[in-house]
Amino acid sequence: MSSELPSPPRENIVLIGFMGSGKSAIGRMLAKRLKFRFMDTDTIIEERARMPIKDIFAKHGEAYFRERETAALASLAGGRGHIIATGGGIVTQARNLPLLHKLGWVVLLKADPDEIFRRVAHNKQRPLLQVENPRERVETMLAERQPLYEEAADFSVDSTGLQREAVVERVLEGARKVFGWKETAKL
Ligand code: S3P
Repeated sequence: MSSELPSPPRENIVLIGFMGSGKSAIGRMLAKRLKFRFMDTDTIIEERARMPIKDIFAKHGEAYFRERETAALASLAGGRGHIIATGGGIVTQARNLPLLHKLGWVVLLKADPDEIFRRVAHNKQRPLLQVENPRERVETMLAERQPLYEEAADFSVDSTGLQREAVVERVLEGARKVFGWKETAKL
């Protein structure tokens, strides 16, 4: 009988979601609370390439970046006790989906387009938003990607109008259930 029960995912939390959805900020807070290690696929890519993401896009193009991104994700396999923030485009490559699920419990952070735009508007480090009308770009990309995020996610939290602490609490609530943590064991 017990073999029919779904086994819990590996004890890592993988954060997915659009640019500006809070993956890095929430990820760092979760890591602190759980005493997990914070990892970020964008940082891994930049360290390996020894250049910022915007330069990777400018020099080698998006397809090359996506290959580096899959390699970064694959290199995290086998770890435990990690909070892994991923780039907003991770779900655009079908090959990344099994990798995400192999890594751990996949949590989608959502926010509405207005809030996303407010958070990313002044940042020049995101090559895909350096266009004439970034607001329109955010809306188009969000609409295209939303079904991909939903498909990839095991759990989701909408952070629109929520304080970061509240978002962290919601993720922890889900984590306690899915990993079978005792109420007191993982605050
Ligand atoms: C991208 C999101 C970025 C980064 C790259 C491409 C995307 O990461 O990986 O600029 O395609 O949405 P963040 O979501 O951390 O900004």
